[in-house]
Amino acid sequence: MDVTASYRAYTNIALIKYWGKRDAELFLPMTSSLSLTLEALYTDTRITMTDSAQADCFILNGQLQDVTATDRISRFLDRFVADASQRPRVLVESINHVPTAAGLASSASAYAALGCAANEYFQTQLSRKELSTLVRQGSGSATRSLFGGFALWHRGTGTDSASSYAEQIDDAQWDIAMIIIVINAGPKRISSREGMIHTMQTSPYYRVWPDVVAEALPAMQEAIAQQDFERVGRLSEHNAMAMHASMIASNPSLTYWEPESLTAMQCVRELRDQGIPCYYTMDAGPNVKVLCRHTQAQAIMQSLSQYFKPDQLILSAPGSDPHPIDWEALYGNV
Ligand code: PMV
Repeated sequence: MDVTASYRAYTNIALIKYWGKRDAELFLPMTSSLSLTLEALYTDTRITMTDSAQADCFILNGQLQDVTATDRISRFLDRFVADASQRPRVLVESINHVPTAAGLASSASAYAALGCAANEYFQTQLSRKELSTLVRQGSGSATRSLFGGFALWHRGTGTDSASSYAEQIDDAQWDIAMIIIVINAGPKRISSREGMIHTMQTSPYYRVWPDVVAEALPAMQEAIAQQDFERVGRLSEHNAMAMHASMIASNPSLTYWEPESLTAMQCVRELRDQGIPCYYTMDAGPNVKVLCRHTQAQAIMQSLSQYFKPDQLILSAPGSDPHPIDWEALYGNV
């Protein structure tokens, strides 16, 4: 067993969304999904040996976490050993580099970083494809954060966990970027897990969601392969709105939008009318993410700054695969 393992993983934003599980235990999704990994938002995680024989210890952003949060981590780590009762207890330290007050979901980068660190620490030697099926069971969207650039998470078949994995389909080393407009920094009212269940159970529009994805996904893959930015953007925006339409048609209706979310969308549409190609997407929260050309990002940020404060705008280039880090060099040995 290694004494310590430290990894960085980047978050991702889905362009073809994952919304709904067909198997809640195994985190098997209803549909495949496709995302762009982002360089600006990431989590660093270190696993070290602990003297305590009794319990794992979890420190997030310098704060010792409670039993519930630590239990989730422990159950996730149990997946890396044959006999969980014999697993050595560890100290898990994580630092989320999501700019303060961004209020953006960090579970994708968090579980991807933890999974990579655990794979090294427990010497499991899983390939990243195999690891993606384990990480999936911490947080669905984390599956895609095991890969930089554009990542495709396959739906898989039946209850075969190994068939629902992620892979990189393009390294995104072309003129593309994302601007995150931070509308609300607070925790979400309804978790994505609960939101998915509610939509699946009560929205008549959810029935067509798998068909919407089945049609959009090959088109998106083709658009990415051709580096057809505008088609990628149009498909992303439409897919996000179709997902939100299914949520809005839930009973009672579920909407994560806030008035400023609509302002942001309007702004993007106006930029398009002025001939600047950019497209919005949204997840289970009010923040709006704008897909744009990297070379036009500054001009777009300038325009958005008429409505949003500088600390509400985060520009990100595409991110890379997770990678080991020198924890001591970054954070000292605290
Ligand atoms: O895996 P979770 O619980 O982070 O859910 C992700 C849900 C969306 O962000 C709305 C869509 C997606 O594919 O990331």
